[in-house]
Amino acid sequence: MASTDIYLDHAATTPVDPDVFEAMAPYLSDRYGNPSSIYAAGREARAGLDRARGLLANSLNCQAREIVFTSGGTEADNLALKGVAWHNRLRGGGNHIITTSIEHHAVLHSAEFLQQFDFDVTCVDPDEDGIIHPEAVRAAIRDDTMLISVMYANNEIGAIQPIAEIGAVAREHDITFHTDAVQAGGTLDLDVEALGVDMLSLSAHKFYGPKGVGLLYVRRQTPILWQQSGGAQENNHRAGTENVAGIIGMSKALEIAEAERETENQRLIDLRTRLSNGLLERISGTRLNGHPERRLPNNVNISFDGVEGETLLLNLDMNGIAASSGSACTTGSTEPSHVLRALGLSQTQVNGSLRLSLGKSNDEEQVDRVIAVLDESIVRLRRMAAATAD
Ligand SMILES: Cc1ncc(COP(=O)(O)O)c(C=O)c1O
Repeated sequence: MASTDIYLDHAATTPVDPDVFEAMAPYLSDRYGNPSSIYAAGREARAGLDRARGLLANSLNCQAREIVFTSGGTEADNLALKGVAWHNRLRGGGNHIITTSIEHHAVLHSAEFLQQFDFDVTCVDPDEDGIIHPEAVRAAIRDDTMLISVMYANNEIGAIQPIAEIGAVAREHDITFHTDAVQAGGTLDLDVEALGVDMLSLSAHKFYGPKGVGLLYVRRQTPILWQQSGGAQENNHRAGTENVAGIIGMSKALEIAEAERETENQRLIDLRTRLSNGLLERISGTRLNGHPERRLPNNVNISFDGVEGETLLLNLDMNGIAASSGSACTTGSTEPSHVLRALGLSQTQVNGSLRLSLGKSNDEEQVDRVIAVLDESIVRLRRMAAATAD
């Protein structure tokens, strides 16, 4: 099998930063204590955990006790939606949830799960650039709306949503507001006060931290029924021995990302511009999906007429390039992307789409090579398709 020389799938996951790995290592070896134990080894693990919680709280501009560590973004999203829904059901509160048609499946499938229990869900559609308008959210509000969940940045097209404006609408109506900030972590500002959110999901492996660890920020007084029963960990909010090394890794990863953010974001924007302009100029029948500027610095989502994204992915892979197609990212699934469909793309356009997500390891030389490989592959595939059609 060809090895990956050029990794262009940073929206799927990122490698662990060596400094993150180093920060985690002691907690996987010598400092193995259970943070709930009262003897020295336990206190040592607890100290590391508390320090990490404090640093993360600083980044989010919240209190340490408002952070609940989870097993990642999926659990955080599940907890946010189901926790608030069940609390409302128990207390005779509202029955209606507003979310969007372009959320990650962790949110969409949680909402669908709740529909089975007779909760009502409204999915707000984006405009053709993938932006969710605050007025569209406002128009969906009912007397019994108890939760609004809108992602900060989209995982497929990178569209950055006006979270602070939507937060203001939610607050005006006294509705709990959650944002899935998994793709925004490390790149965008996570200040929960500026964003006006009551809950925010984060996942470490999207910003050079380890997999299997994340958090849900939950503002004090948020009406939520905690979902995981067991021990008293996380202030009785999420039972189970904490992933100490993972949590320390997540806090180190965010610290590094924030220190590098300004320069790295600009570098990625320059690379993104080079990549998308190169593809749009060199290859005919090409369109950029999502808003041209209001998108993550590392995201290029592009459709090519007359070719299958899956075939392109195989061609890229044979050239040592890893990317993602417009199909669902679940292994073995080739479901067409619900996000691209929501933008109004036809089935054929969705099938001919690629997501190229840049990161720390990429440079201009790699970008130029990707443009050349795609140009060559697309010309060849289109020629083959035309020959078969003759
Ligand atoms: C927007 C978004 N939300 C949630 C998730 C799920 O996060 P995790 O992989 O940590 O479960 C992802 C991961 O791709 C994502 O992109």
